[in-house]
Amino acid sequence: MCGIIGFSGRREAAPILIDGLKRLEYRGYDSSGLVTGTGGSLHLRKKAGRIAELAKEVAARPAPGTFGISHTRWATHGGATDRNAHPHFDTAGDIAVVHNGVIENHHTLRNQLQADGVEFRSETDTEVLAHLISHYYEGDLLAAVKHALALVKGTYGCAVVCRHDPGVIVGARLGSPLVIGIGPDGHYLASDANALAGYATQVVYLNDRQIFQLDQDSWVIRNQDLDTVDAPLQDIEHFLGGGDAELNGFPHYMLKEIYEQPETLANAMRGRLDDSDSTAHFGGLNLTSQQLRQIDRVIMTACGTSYHAGMVGEYLFEELARIPVEVEYASELRYRNPPIDRSTVMFAITQSGETADTLAALRESKRMGHTTLAICNTVGSSIAREADGGVYLHAGPEIGVASTKAFTSQSCVLTMLALYLGRTRHLSSVQGQAIIDNLRQLPEKVRQTLGCHERVKGIAAKYAHVRNVLYLGRQYLYPAALEGALKLKEISYIHAEGYPAAEMKHGPIALVDADTPSVFLVPRGSVFDKVMSNMQEIKARGGPVIAVCSPDDEEVASIADDIIPIPDVPEYLQPIIAAIPLQLLAYEIALLRGCDVDKPRNLAKSVTVE
Ligand code: G6P
Repeated sequence: MCGIIGFSGRREAAPILIDGLKRLEYRGYDSSGLVTGTGGSLHLRKKAGRIAELAKEVAARPAPGTFGISHTRWATHGGATDRNAHPHFDTAGDIAVVHNGVIENHHTLRNQLQADGVEFRSETDTEVLAHLISHYYEGDLLAAVKHALALVKGTYGCAVVCRHDPGVIVGARLGSPLVIGIGPDGHYLASDANALAGYATQVVYLNDRQIFQLDQDSWVIRNQDLDTVDAPLQDIEHFLGGGDAELNGFPHYMLKEIYEQPETLANAMRGRLDDSDSTAHFGGLNLTSQQLRQIDRVIMTACGTSYHAGMVGEYLFEELARIPVEVEYASELRYRNPPIDRSTVMFAITQSGETADTLAALRESKRMGHTTLAICNTVGSSIAREADGGVYLHAGPEIGVASTKAFTSQSCVLTMLALYLGRTRHLSSVQGQAIIDNLRQLPEKVRQTLGCHERVKGIAAKYAHVRNVLYLGRQYLYPAALEGALKLKEISYIHAEGYPAAEMKHGPIALVDADTPSVFLVPRGSVFDKVMSNMQEIKARGGPVIAVCSPDDEEVASIADDIIPIPDVPEYLQPIIAAIPLQLLAYEIALLRGCDVDKPRNLAKSVTVE
């Protein structure tokens, strides 16, 4: 949420900043801005709207200079206007600040500053920081930033430049990610390492409560007392996560990422399935086999789509490993105090590894001494670094704001973890091997499932005008129903609800009419007959039914208005297969409604504020 990029070196800064911002646009895209410096002058350009607007502005009115900071915004305090776009200045126009996070006590600080005669130009929380730094500035920018931040409650990743310190960038982190990059042309900072690909060769991640200063020749990281901190430099290649961040001929990242799933699932499994003892293996769990056997309860925590994957994990761990699981929204868990004992393990599930609530929930668990494991896609992210151990998805960069391939990879990793834990308990080698064999077929089954795309297009055309959609499934397909509804909501702005198919009788069925379709997830399985009864209940009330079902299922076809056949797989893999047509349906409906599929309104890919 909000992206920051900065540069000080031996090249013009503005093109580097704009290129970096484009790569960070997934973090927020309601406005953007930059400030560059030449000698004793700062040059500000900022615009509401997408980064393309800022690029146009800079093309029309170039921002000269070889150092600068920039920002792409996801609005928290104050609307998406030119005025509220970052950077923000102090009254004299000497100090410019970009900020990711929330200054929770900004109201109090603003009142105090106003009482001292400061006039505010924006509605943002960030502007107080510019005025505070200015208040403390006596020629030492680092010291001024330190003093200002000492007054701030909340979270920040911030960067600051001052007209009197040409080439110098100072910044700090508490809760929002920042990475410093070292390259042949100078020094960089960014909200994630990917934004520095092609510029920096090495990176160093800031930890919370650290403050940095860089210029074209040097960089230093200090703690709160301004003592120098030893920070390890690492090759940037290690953090780029493989995969391809280009569109490769696809019209949208979301579609590209949907189509990547056979490959991303294969990557999630690569080297992890072991026929010799019919189990899975993971390099980074950092738990002894004794600790593994002692796990008698699991808490999974996550947000958004990752939460739905956690719910799939609940069914998987219960069935395959016989371990009780609770799944909790990270935003709730972080403020709860559930009784947890030493044999409970906490899994944080996250694509980005930066979601503020998930990070806070993980830290809270760690603070209480519990083992924390991350299921994460982004190498080097805060959650990946702070967890005691974990499993990477290896899905490559996910850029479409609506998560697709991360969900299927998370579900796949959770299946392998359930297998692994199951094999340390009651699962026989025959059962374990059967799971492995089914997992191995998964990429090909997903490839076959993608064949439903043309049929889904036709269904999308029929229903693109509706205002409400129900998504209904049971057992493993209940979380898949939630995920299908979330996809539609996120990118097409149609109200959609996922429900356990039988539970819909307790409320949502009141919504059903000829203009409210229900998407039933009803492939053959243990609850097939039950879900069919629920489908009849919807039909009896005149509701159209779209059924995601097994191939050649005449029974379903005779009742449903539209069917989307998917290949047969065991029930524990059905959420992965069923996700594919639901992703495509949301995508096609959003296109027909003229929505911005990759950058839906009001959303951001990485939610780094709570
Ligand atoms: C945002 C994104 C979702 C994502 C959620 C959790 O809401 O738009 O796609 O599922 O954050 O993100 P995480 O990176 O923790 O999985």
